[in-house]
Amino acid sequence: MIKAIELLKAKSQIVGLVPTMGALHAGHLALVERALKKNDRVVVSIFVNPTQFDNSDDLKKYPRTLEKDVALLQTLSKDKILVYAPTVDDVYEGKTVSESFDFDGLEFEMEGRFRNGHFDGVGTIVKRLFEIIKPDSAYFGEKDFQQLQIIKKLVEKHDLPVTIVGCPIYRETSGLAMSSRNTRLKPAYKKAAPFIYKTLKTAKIKFGTKSANKVTEWVESQFAKQPLLKLEYFIIADEATLKTVKRKLNKKTYRAFIAVYADDIRLIDNIALN
Ligand code: PAF
Repeated sequence: MIKAIELLKAKSQIVGLVPTMGALHAGHLALVERALKKNDRVVVSIFVNPTQFDNSDDLKKYPRTLEKDVALLQTLSKDKILVYAPTVDDVYEGKTVSESFDFDGLEFEMEGRFRNGHFDGVGTIVKRLFEIIKPDSAYFGEKDFQQLQIIKKLVEKHDLPVTIVGCPIYRETSGLAMSSRNTRLKPAYKKAAPFIYKTLKTAKIKFGTKSANKVTEWVESQFAKQPLLKLEYFIIADEATLKTVKRKLNKKTYRAFIAVYADDIRLIDNIALN
């Protein structure tokens, strides 16, 4: 990959990067399609990064479908996409540990509270991928909105020469946010899971007239009635700082964030509120 990138750079080719953990779905393909429009070549990295998992069972069960992923990418382009699917040793060179980062507090909110060391793992792998691929731009989905904000912070703080492009959440027709983990949902849970987005949409309407606290209480009461879904958190936060809203201010942009367990599968989603 390093040699391939050197050759592309020598020919002044513009390179886009779509980092993934594989088990590609339509949401990933939309990122790749967007990248194909703006770059001469697009590198899709497929790597289940061990350092961002705090749950060894989740890491073990994470779907791995490399051949199918490559076949899907070939439907988008036969010659503009490069797949980078390294081994753990290629990336970590025998030391599978994270660097430790300061993301100005963004890392302590939401996912950071529930997934120990997660964002150090994400920061480590994304920084490493940027060093190897040297992309002009890199594409990330807004489903992991906190991750997107943290990667923007990583680029700003480390002065990395890459433009970060955030792309809208891709949803199944049921409204469920696309995720590689959805393939692991048993039928009853798959049927229950669209309740997450349905609730987010109603929460958005309620936020027009009610306080963040009242909306949060309402969401919690709705999930208490759902036997198959266990709410981990629902938070209304300032988009820039990711801090929970205490009092609504006109000039701020807010977003609601949610994490829910469907069986042992953790699903996250979010919605822009204004
Ligand atoms: O969003 C993901 O799939 C992962 O967190 C990423 C950005 C590919 C890093 O492993």
